[in-house]
Amino acid sequence: MSSNVRPDSMKRINTFELANAFIDEQVAEIRAQVGAKKVLLALSGGVDSSVVAALLIKAIGKQLVCVHVNHGLMRKGESEQVIEVFGKQLNANLVYIDATDRYLDKLAGVSDPETKRKIIGGEFIRIFEEEARKLEGVDFLAQGTIYPDILESVKQAEGKKAVKSHHNVGGLPDDLQFELVEPIKLLFKDEVRVVGEALGLPHEMVYRQPFPGPGLGVRCLGAITRDRLHALREADAILREEFDIAGLNKTVWQYFIVIPDIKSVGVKDESRYEGWPAIIRAVNTKDAMSATIEEIPYAILHKITKRITSEVEGINRVLYDLTPKPTGTIEWE
Ligand code: XMP
Repeated sequence: MSSNVRPDSMKRINTFELANAFIDEQVAEIRAQVGAKKVLLALSGGVDSSVVAALLIKAIGKQLVCVHVNHGLMRKGESEQVIEVFGKQLNANLVYIDATDRYLDKLAGVSDPETKRKIIGGEFIRIFEEEARKLEGVDFLAQGTIYPDILESVKQAEGKKAVKSHHNVGGLPDDLQFELVEPIKLLFKDEVRVVGEALGLPHEMVYRQPFPGPGLGVRCLGAITRDRLHALREADAILREEFDIAGLNKTVWQYFIVIPDIKSVGVKDESRYEGWPAIIRAVNTKDAMSATIEEIPYAILHKITKRITSEVEGINRVLYDLTPKPTGTIEWE
């Protein structure tokens, strides 16, 4: 599948039957393209890279080398899930790199959002490159490019300006020459999910809400510190758990916690307690270009507030961001 244009005749993949036909077709194409050679994949654990990994494992098994870089900015439990699903259940050839210290050292004291993004993306490329050089005989690089990415790059080539520098993989040095394997590049997101489920990936992995490449790094506002990042990860896990319990995970497109670099005075155990505020963001959108605020029932907001302020060290207030996009962007940075 080398063309970047989706043919009009291509059916929308919305049943397992169509997904299985797509999988069979791709498995044959991947085998024909790759032969006995090795393929490298940056496996973030997001929907797209996970589906590509599962497809390639089905097609070429251990010829696929998955590299999972834990930048220390993942949500709670995410790297563990990648290891469990790909390393254990699917028995993939998985290289796991815990680069937490490397990232957090590089990011120490850096408060500008775009500089943070550049460091996170740049460091990723360096680590990935180091791993690629260690492996012998890798000729192919697999990517989880999907059709909206192709449509977006066409728009950018036409000179439309982006508000933020979104990036995932890309920008590898010229002397690392790979041929690309992009088996889902003509699919829309809903189709990727159906294919993922048909491949047997866990439902929560396939229906995961979108998560920015720079991860919690752009939600721990300003200069990231380990203690505030830890508080953010724990508070975010509570929010997700409560949204799951209330079924809001099915109706809200993206929901997360943001923690600014400010402290306010509070009181705990009858003593002064200075802590950070945790800000809840819960939005719905069609294309992420604009977004509306979800009405979360007060009882759920109260429960989340109570749990976060009592269970998470360092947080003494919970706020709810009511700003649609525009004027706010979905993320705070
Ligand atoms: P904004 O904040 O621009 O976000 O309204 C729109 C959508 O994009 C996600 N986002 C990112 N995704 N790298 C990514 O891969 C990034 O640097 C990045 N920044 C924002 C955001 O989570 C939302 O879904």
